Amino acid sequence: MKRVLTAMVVAGTMAGTWMVALAEDAAVAYPDGYRDWHHVKSMVIEEGHALYGAFGGIHHLYANEAAVQGYRTGQFPDGAVIVFDLLAAEDAGNALTEGARKVVGVMERDAGRFGDTGGWGFEGFGGGDPENRVVGADAATACFGCHAPQESTQYVFSTMRDGE
Ligand code: HEC
Repeated sequence: MKRVLTAMVVAGTMAGTWMVALAEDAAVAYPDGYRDWHHVKSMVIEEGHALYGAFGGIHHLYANEAAVQGYRTGQFPDGAVIVFDLLAAEDAGNALTEGARKVVGVMERDAGRFGDTGGWGFEGFGGGDPENRVVGADAATACFGCHAPQESTQYVFSTMRDGE
């Protein structure tokens, strides 16, 4: 009986480890150091815009080396990461300044791991906190659904300004 129990515990632990490994495998990594990456573009979304509820504020897009290659060639290789850094926009008297960080949105390219969502993993880190994942298993509905029509550009909306 003791041996059976031990076997069950071992099998259970292995299954647990395997599930954790799977979950980690499917998870988008927090983009460490993205503020040193290539700046793609910025945009302010004001009240009245259709996307104000979800993305109102000032956002800056950053691309790692592989993603820059993707923007330039139209083919995003595995390992490409694009960051959507969204900050509140604060009125400073005929000027808008950056307020608190709202979310760090991430697209990570891996055609195999993220095949169900166009080859991209999507995640949002609430307030920019690496521990605060706001998308999790909802990437298909919360993110990919809106990016899906951009199939001809590998689900990426933005372009680099004059290829810069
Ligand atoms: C309602 C539509 C919509 C939804 C939902 C949406 N996005 Fe986007 N996303 C956009 C648009 C439009 C842009 C282009 C913004 C620009 O040009 O500055 C964009 C751009 C991006 C980019 C930069 C790469 C690109 O495609 O230009 C990232 C990263 C991103 N979104 C992540 C996410 C994540 C993560 C989610 C889910 C939390 C999400 N998006 C949900 C519309 C959407």
